[in-house]
Amino acid sequence: MTKAKLAVLVSGRGTNLVALARAIDEGRCAAEIVLVASDNPGAPALEFAASRGIPCAVVPFRKGVDRAEFSAALAREVAARAPDWVVMAGFMRVVTPEFVTPFEGRIVNIHPSLLPAFPGKDGVGDALAAGVRITGCTVHLVDLGVDSGPILAQAAVPVLPGDTRETLHARIQIREHELLPRVVDDLVRGRYRGATPIADVEGEGDALVSPRFAT
Ligand code: GRF
Repeated sequence: MTKAKLAVLVSGRGTNLVALARAIDEGRCAAEIVLVASDNPGAPALEFAASRGIPCAVVPFRKGVDRAEFSAALAREVAARAPDWVVMAGFMRVVTPEFVTPFEGRIVNIHPSLLPAFPGKDGVGDALAAGVRITGCTVHLVDLGVDSGPILAQAAVPVLPGDTRETLHARIQIREHELLPRVVDDLVRGRYRGATPIADVEGEGDALVSPRFAT
């Protein structure tokens, strides 16, 4: 099977990028990373990419920059590598149609809450502040809203007494690192069925994969 080309967008540490790269190395994800792009020149994720010889691009997001111009510049960098899928793995900028439209239906994002609960910048802190007992992570397709696109898969994580944002996020990230490569593998293998009627939910541990996937 030809490997699908991925462009991975990052803003920070890049532990999800590392998990994706590891899954690819271990044959659990039938893809290759053709680009790592970031809005943040200091993102540790870029160092990891460079150390692996993965092409990198930086499109800085400066204060006062026009969001549409930023999105268009990012789209140009990504399009130059002709990826099959764009993976937002800790990408902290909201993009406009200038980015979403050219890759519509081929952009996935990982978010640290059980969407549609707690979208936005601080999904972990907001869940903690709300006092929920269960939170988790969601992989979804990106549309023009904030964390509002069709949900592809979720994994649940308990909130434990004494949790801080850091301890809870660390627990969520363990599940993120399993879920993201698995969903990307399903997508690149063409298992996504689009908006078919929901008939059943496949459970694996406490990770739920949307029935939008063929089994
Ligand atoms: C993850 O928790 C992801 O859900 C969120 O940003 C974080 C990125 O973490 N969108 P990392 O940079 O992959 O470690």
